[in-house]
Amino acid sequence: MSKVTVVGAGNVGATCANVLAVNEVANEVCLIDIKEGLAEGKAMDIMQTAQLMGFDTVVKGVTNDYSQTADSDVVVVTSGLPRKPGMTREELIGVNAGIVKSVVSSVLKYSPNAILVIVSNPMDTMAYLTLHALGLPRNRVIGMGGALDSARLKYFLSQALKCNANDVDGFVIGGHGDTTMIPLTSYVTYKGIPVTEFLSKEEIEQVVKSTMVGGATLTGLLGTSAWMAPGAAASSVCEAIIKDQKKMIPCSAALDGEYGMKDITIGVPCIIGRNGIEKIIEVKLAPEEQEKLINSEAAVRKTTATLKELNVL
Ligand code: LAC
Repeated sequence: MSKVTVVGAGNVGATCANVLAVNEVANEVCLIDIKEGLAEGKAMDIMQTAQLMGFDTVVKGVTNDYSQTADSDVVVVTSGLPRKPGMTREELIGVNAGIVKSVVSSVLKYSPNAILVIVSNPMDTMAYLTLHALGLPRNRVIGMGGALDSARLKYFLSQALKCNANDVDGFVIGGHGDTTMIPLTSYVTYKGIPVTEFLSKEEIEQVVKSTMVGGATLTGLLGTSAWMAPGAAASSVCEAIIKDQKKMIPCSAALDGEYGMKDITIGVPCIIGRNGIEKIIEVKLAPEEQEKLINSEAAVRKTTATLKELNVL
């Protein structure tokens, strides 16, 4: 038996619960929210698709009763406010930090051994807060930003190449922010062939730019943060854990010397399995990518330092 709890039944949380169910990632999904009836309603709506989609996963919705989340293997935290057009993810810290801290404490009371997948923004800082406020080992706290940003990179690459998105590969490291994420162009390939064989420097630069503002573009179009890809990205991280897939997924991880950094939670390629972050992969970076990582590190540290000013850490 496997169980995933998704905290927050907003757009991202409900989509994540839906993808978890449709893909039968776990036997049971508990969707929880503070708003009376919201999680129950979304869960019921999802369950009414069970026979249409042919899944057996049971999705249950609850209002604020954390005892119902007991014995979860994985807990996805989507709580807090989403972005409004023109807003950065970092601007959400004042509201979201307190919410995330209290949610994670409640979750751990009933699932003391759960692996936590952090989605709430600013994601790297919320992962850092979770890790340090609760004193958890670093394998158990995973920020999902890199999984989402890498999916967006592959989408924009497939658009530029006019090809199937499943035929391209590549990943994004650094912070999950409009200016802090680093699509690693030296590793993008089309069926294993470097994309430099197919795209000009300018075309690749455009893919990088579109990826970096991928979330902001959608926020502008939708009037709020995106949810389809964020929900599916969080579900893919859960799947790697529950099914012990040992997949390499770029995630926000606490570094302890890797990439020359310590005491920071930032996006790097990780091997994700039953124990959460089982390994951090260190790849060689081109000099300009190394420089971008140093700038990204400084920006993520600056946001993370706000946690002390807010008295949540
Ligand atoms: C995004 C938000 C969820 O990138 O961070 O769409």
